[in-house]
Amino acid sequence: MRAAFVIALAACGETTPEVVLDVLVDTNPAPGIVEVQLVAEVAHVEYLPGKPAEVWAFRDAGRTGAKATVPGPMLDAQLGDRVIVHFRNDLPVATTIHWHGLRVANPSDGTTLSQRPIAPGERFDYELELVDAGLYWYHPHVDGDVQVERGLHAPIRITGDRAIDAAADRVFVLDDVKLESTGKLSTTTDALDLMLGRQGNVVLVNGRRDATIEAAPGTRERWRFVNAANGRYFNLELPGHELRVIGWDGGLVRESYATPRLLVAPGERYEVVVELAGELGDRIALQTVHYDRGHEIPDPGPIDIVKIELVASGTAPEPLPALATIEPIAIDAATPRRRFVLREDDSDPQAPVFTINDEAFPSVTPVDVAIDNVEIWEIENATEMDHPFHLHGMSFQIVDGKPPIGWKDTVNVPRETTLPIAVRYTAAGEWMFHCHILEHAERGMMGHLHVR
Ligand code: C2O
Ligand code: CU
Ligand code: CU
Repeated sequence: MRAAFVIALAACGETTPEVVLDVLVDTNPAPGIVEVQLVAEVAHVEYLPGKPAEVWAFRDAGRTGAKATVPGPMLDAQLGDRVIVHFRNDLPVATTIHWHGLRVANPSDGTTLSQRPIAPGERFDYELELVDAGLYWYHPHVDGDVQVERGLHAPIRITGDRAIDAAADRVFVLDDVKLESTGKLSTTTDALDLMLGRQGNVVLVNGRRDATIEAAPGTRERWRFVNAANGRYFNLELPGHELRVIGWDGGLVRESYATPRLLVAPGERYEVVVELAGELGDRIALQTVHYDRGHEIPDPGPIDIVKIELVASGTAPEPLPALATIEPIAIDAATPRRRFVLREDDSDPQAPVFTINDEAFPSVTPVDVAIDNVEIWEIENATEMDHPFHLHGMSFQIVDGKPPIGWKDTVNVPRETTLPIAVRYTAAGEWMFHCHILEHAERGMMGHLHVR
């Protein structure tokens, strides 16, 4: 009886706690070209059952009957594809779309340095050549703290890298929302929200509080995470298991490493493989545990974010292959160094100001550099909290001497520390760099890189 009920639900496409994301429909039959139709609009979703919240969300206009969702529909494509996104803004405000982590040509970067914001009712076409496999994401770059928080964000999965034997390849969008008891998004922004980045009171995976997956003990799964929250840090732990990291922001790393806990700061992505231990019928949960990012944020204790039901059994995986061939960016004592000092001024708690080299965006001096040059950026965090630092248009390597070698576009800089990164200026144009706590970025902690 119960089995029949479950099948019936699945058959009519009813919502179950499953966490599979909708994928944007490719409306162009030509191979190697992916053409999608995307709309941003006001919509309603139920974070709390029976209590709809008004959100701003993306909808796949290429799929008849599709509704706007949070997260939005995933762009799922192949390395080497050319993607054309026909976008229409049906929001009451101007917006843009930024393709976080994708190395796209400057006119498609979707910031206010590379285009005029798209007014309500207007259209804009983005063109993306997919040159890196991995997990990325898209979101507006106008009033990011407000627009992303209201629901405008979605993942991008680019396949076609080294084949890894896995029973499942899952994408998990980590987020939180600040809800009233009515289920609506809170409209109050307090001083703490501005200082820390808004932390919600409801934690979501793929838009759900009750994300559940079924997995088979003895198998390996590939899990890809993106932290789309404005301010929350996720510190992932799967009790009884280690997480084996195989990839970062810019795709697979050179060699995998195992960790009991994985910190995912806002804007960052990580790919892991997990070999599921346990018995048929066991229920385990992926948790986020406290991470001290400064300003004495209290420890809420572990929060279960994905429930895992161990069903059926599966076959043991093939050994992991060699992952990626990545050369370290060549640096030496003569490589030019450039320092970026992050500061916060909270003398007015209602209007804190966050700066890079004592300048607050948009009143900043562009950093002017020549294409193909390599420099070391020393990101000095002179504040009492962590800041996740993000660069548009090109990936960088962390040069802290710790393995592995891999590509990042967003990196957490712990409070009162300096992190060196090596950057090769691979793309001409006007690019942004900023803290990915969006309240900070929108209150000054953003800079302008001009690559000529
Ligand atoms: Cu996720 Cu400037 O962006
Ligand atoms: Cu970005
Ligand atoms: Cu910050």
